[in-house]
Amino acid sequence: MTSVHQPVMLKQAIEYLNVQPGEAYFDATVGGGGHAQAILAAGGRLYGIDRDPQAVRLARERLTASYPQGGWQVNQADFVDLKTAVQVFKLNQFSGILFDLGLSSDQLADRQRGFSFQLDGPLDMRMDPVLNVTAADLLKVLNKGELYELFKKLGEEKRALRLAQAIIDARQQTPITTSKQLADLAMSVCAGRRGKLHPATKMFQALRIAVNDELNNLKAALPQAIDLLKAKGRLVVISFHGLEDRIVKHCFKDLAVEGVIRLLTKKPIQPELVEVKANPRARSAKLRAAEKV
Ligand SMILES: C[S@@+](CC[C@H](N)C(=O)[O-])C[C@H]1O[C@@H](n2cnc3c(N)ncnc32)[C@H](O)[C@@H]1O
Repeated sequence: MTSVHQPVMLKQAIEYLNVQPGEAYFDATVGGGGHAQAILAAGGRLYGIDRDPQAVRLARERLTASYPQGGWQVNQADFVDLKTAVQVFKLNQFSGILFDLGLSSDQLADRQRGFSFQLDGPLDMRMDPVLNVTAADLLKVLNKGELYELFKKLGEEKRALRLAQAIIDARQQTPITTSKQLADLAMSVCAGRRGKLHPATKMFQALRIAVNDELNNLKAALPQAIDLLKAKGRLVVISFHGLEDRIVKHCFKDLAVEGVIRLLTKKPIQPELVEVKANPRARSAKLRAAEKV
């Protein structure tokens, strides 16, 4: 299997990383290896991690094919513990660090992972299969108030209460264990009134963020990334929804006020229309970049 993921805002990410030949760059979300490959193509040395073992396999396969001579290393690790994760590379300073957050198309396309409301599969949603709790577990054990909070806070879902109630009602009949069951339930709550987004979109987002503790991981990782940068090193973060972008924005703002970094993007950079047309997944992407002082 090869990666089907198209790297988002590739040109902009490489430009903001300011990749220099021979320098070391760290990709904290290596995914299918698209950005990693471009860093190597620009002459950088590449060190990458992903918490998903399948992503690590795909990235290694891609980089082995294009850079069999080496110059790169990819390992399975979680960026929540970035400083520990880099120890294996025997490096503690990088000229640039990239976070390309969220899911890859490879993860979405694998029905067994349960990330997509368009494919039927078990409601798993764990990026790393050693995590203990799946999305189906959350739907089984959370009470109505907890489900409401989850959909409201992590999905910014207007229909949070109705969805929570619908889950409580449905699971009295039969456990909710598949992505199709949950997508159908969202459709029934929405009763045919559909906007641009599928009615299950935000609920799936909320469950995935909760299962993988994505926001706390990001909050923990960004300051570590700054510490791991050389002076004048660049941090580039691509986010895909407002909750992530707000964390990046506030972290960058605070560190800029403290004089630790210099903002390179006062406002987030968004993809060009031509990219969004070619790859609709890019439509919500926002890139922020900063330079360590
Ligand atoms: C959008 S994809 C990255 C795609 C990659 N830039 C490419 O060009 O192929 C995001 C990746 O981040 C990984 N990821 C998410 N949270 C992570 C974490 N806490 N630690 C490490 N990897 C994480 C996911 O498993 C996924 O493979």
